[in-house]
Amino acid sequence: VEPLADMGDAEDFTAREIDDQPAAAARLVDSLSERLAGGLLLRELGVPARTRLRLVACGSSSYAAHVTAAVLGSVARIPAHVVVASEPPPPVEDPDVLTVAFSQSGETADVLTALEHWTDPVLAVTNNPRSTLARRADSVLDLACGPERGVAATKSFTNQVLAGAALAVALAAALGRLSTEDVAGFEAQLRAAPEHMAATHRLAAPPADRLARDLADEPAFIYVSRGAGVPYALEGALKLKELAYRWVEALPAGELKHGPLALIQEGTPVIAVQARPHDRLAVNAREMTTRGARLITVGPGEDADLPVKAPAVEPPWGPLESVVALQHFARGLTRLLGYDVDRPRNLAKSVTVE
Ligand code: F6R
Repeated sequence: VEPLADMGDAEDFTAREIDDQPAAAARLVDSLSERLAGGLLLRELGVPARTRLRLVACGSSSYAAHVTAAVLGSVARIPAHVVVASEPPPPVEDPDVLTVAFSQSGETADVLTALEHWTDPVLAVTNNPRSTLARRADSVLDLACGPERGVAATKSFTNQVLAGAALAVALAAALGRLSTEDVAGFEAQLRAAPEHMAATHRLAAPPADRLARDLADEPAFIYVSRGAGVPYALEGALKLKELAYRWVEALPAGELKHGPLALIQEGTPVIAVQARPHDRLAVNAREMTTRGARLITVGPGEDADLPVKAPAVEPPWGPLESVVALQHFARGLTRLLGYDVDRPRNLAKSVTVE
């Protein structure tokens, strides 16, 4: 059993780690943001400025990799694809590829095995610079979250997203695809992220607890979003599955009409994570509410069920702060049901078997 003293005033490690996210994010962003221009970060880390990226990860880390892939496409015009580490595709030689492995622990066996498939340079994005992954990699970007004791990823996920976004901007700058002003603009957005997370923490915690009480008897949920919000819906859903042991279908909202809409009955709870533009999600929301769904919105604005503090202009990494609200909801429901928030059944913090 972990020493309780490490939790400070918090009731569990997960609560403390959710709470610690803005500070952990601020530390990371401070250390990275002034090194983005001209590709300085890449030179310091020894990362070659490649034009195609392969992002390898499992679980929550793979959702952070999906956000990174989207930012690489939109900001750097670099094609990137996410490989779920347990299912690596057949190796294809490509001298322009850089592999980026996202792993909080740096000990995930599937990630380490997947890396045996390729010969290209590896950048490890990890919270453990002394891990097996860090030693295997050619360069290391340290997430610098401090220890994460709760089995569910919280602050490591949000820092992975910000590290991935910073990497995308640094690559775009190194390849001459962004002006100095553009880089400064992204730096400002990165620097603003911790404050939006902190404000969301304050805003969303009380309604998340109320919502948990309201939905405590629901056995199953649907989580949806569109565009840049999709990885956050998937990540929020994973928190609910692993902590509160609820069945969750999580998918891009446009996919509902291709099958999962049939699951919706009177009262089915649907958690919709707003990303800009909102209009297409609103159309999908109507498809669901007309079939009886109970719609729960996560987004800016006073009428949202789980309110978040979003920046005026959505950054290319999308509604990162929404995940803070979803973490609160998952933790609130878990505690209400009497389950162990820090040590969910059947799971380990480092998955060292394939
Ligand atoms: C979920 C969670 C897991 C991990 C996954 C990869 O909350 O923590 O899905 O993200 O096991 O672990 P790392 O990042 O250590 O490779």
